[in-house]
Amino acid sequence: MEDRMVHTYQARKELRPRNLDGISEDQVSRHWSLYEGYVKNVNLLNERIDALARKGEFGPEFAEMKRRLGFEYDGMILHEHYFSVLKAGQPPLSDATELAKQLKRFFGGFESWRKEFSAIGKMRGIGWAILYFDPEFGVLSDHWITLHEHGHPAGYIPILVMDAWEHAYMVDYGAAGRSQYVETFLRNVDWAKVEQRLKEAMRYSQMHAAV
Ligand SMILES: [Fe+2]
Repeated sequence: MEDRMVHTYQARKELRPRNLDGISEDQVSRHWSLYEGYVKNVNLLNERIDALARKGEFGPEFAEMKRRLGFEYDGMILHEHYFSVLKAGQPPLSDATELAKQLKRFFGGFESWRKEFSAIGKMRGIGWAILYFDPEFGVLSDHWITLHEHGHPAGYIPILVMDAWEHAYMVDYGAAGRSQYVETFLRNVDWAKVEQRLKEAMRYSQMHAAV
């Protein structure tokens, strides 16, 4: 058999948020531990899948671990997106930014987009609210992702990711505190980071179009 390589992921410590406004250190710390669990499980599954593949054993055990990998992998990546934009005390989104222009184009303006995104975040059930960029047509759209791996539009690039699982706010706001949490999340967004992510996605889109 050809040699195979398994990449080992590490928790991205540089993304851990601190001193947030309305999201406590205790809440962040517990949530971060869950994220570390996803990283650990991605590595564990990849190693076990690799061991089976090396032996040519592609039976039910292999299939179930492959299924499970989608949940663990997306759980890891979505949490990285989520934590990376949380920063207290950042200025509101400026009208001069590309993000503001695109939100105006596709949603009628920042406030209209905010209403839709917040409503998605408050939907019943566990999941994620995600603002995506479609690199094929340059469109921004909001989506609800149930679990971690179900519902992602293929090839779309996440621009802003909000965790709407109860574990993201239970410590600070309790089980009925989703509305308060959504408002708190949006108060802690580092818009410069989101702007940067959109610009990178747009550059990727242009490169893709040129191929
Ligand atoms: Fe989470």
